[in-house]
Amino acid sequence: MSSSPSHPPTSLDEVRVRVPGKLNLALCVGDLADDGYHRLGTVFHAVSIYDVVTARRSALAGVNLHVKGNGDAADVPADDTNLAVRAANLLLDRFHVAEPGVELELRKAIPVAGGMAGGSADAAATLLACSMLWDLDTGPSELHDLAAELGSDVPFMLHGGNALGRGRGTDLVPLLSRGSYHWVLALAHGGLSTPEVFRRFDELGIPGDTTVPEGLLNGLAVGDVDMVAANLRNDLQAAAIDLRPEIGEVLQAGVDAGALAGVLSGSGPTCAFLVRSEAQAQDVAAALSRHEQVRATKYVEGPVPGARSMS
Ligand code: C5P
Repeated sequence: MSSSPSHPPTSLDEVRVRVPGKLNLALCVGDLADDGYHRLGTVFHAVSIYDVVTARRSALAGVNLHVKGNGDAADVPADDTNLAVRAANLLLDRFHVAEPGVELELRKAIPVAGGMAGGSADAAATLLACSMLWDLDTGPSELHDLAAELGSDVPFMLHGGNALGRGRGTDLVPLLSRGSYHWVLALAHGGLSTPEVFRRFDELGIPGDTTVPEGLLNGLAVGDVDMVAANLRNDLQAAAIDLRPEIGEVLQAGVDAGALAGVLSGSGPTCAFLVRSEAQAQDVAAALSRHEQVRATKYVEGPVPGARSMS
């Protein structure tokens, strides 16, 4: 195989990274701190809906982004505000990379502005892909710190699995868990702005409490799906429903269709329904897809690993 003369024959021309979306099995929101972020106690859970980020060597200067995918992929900003572009620029600056730039391709499946950390996932995947492409000396802890600079959910998207998040959500401890969980996602028409949902949470005057339900941690540790279902908690749900009342209707519709429980994903508007099996998922998905507020449904499982190279 021939290689470009501009870099050593052993180096890569392209790196492809697959990255999952996430749910929060608990999102316990505390007070707004001086840094402008709420203190959190959260249980992250990575699920099998994936974006694929490809980083290619480019003779063009800067970061050139192409976004592909069905549905809401057209809503992804393709300029320098995109978190994946910011991730590549962060590495270019921080490591004084001797390359003119990079071509980034995002193949989207994670809903855009859906509360499943799609933008954060793309940023995590970009950090990994560009580090490999440019052969940077970034260990896991340095990647974690760079990820935390980009956003509260980015570090978890590198790790995946189940993790307890504290602080802004960036202080992570992997969680012991057994079993695989089956979910139906109800994707909404349009997205929700995370800062707006947190702002409404503050306006509603809901008392802050970052205590993660013990029953959730115990349920995950022993693999008890009923215990997990009974202890799902998202403190942003009331704020999201206040902004978009149809979220409440969708959550009810999923439970009426037989789901063990439903919970808002992150700051929404995606709703996630825990079910006992893939067969039950089909029934719940069929009922939800008849709801006019549901754009699409998707069956996923979790936990799954975080950003991983496919090369
Ligand atoms: O960290 P990230 O950029 O993803 O956060 C987006 C916005 O969500 C923040 O600007 C803030 O308004 C809100 N947020 C928060 N508390 C957190 C995480 C996010 O208030 N722990």
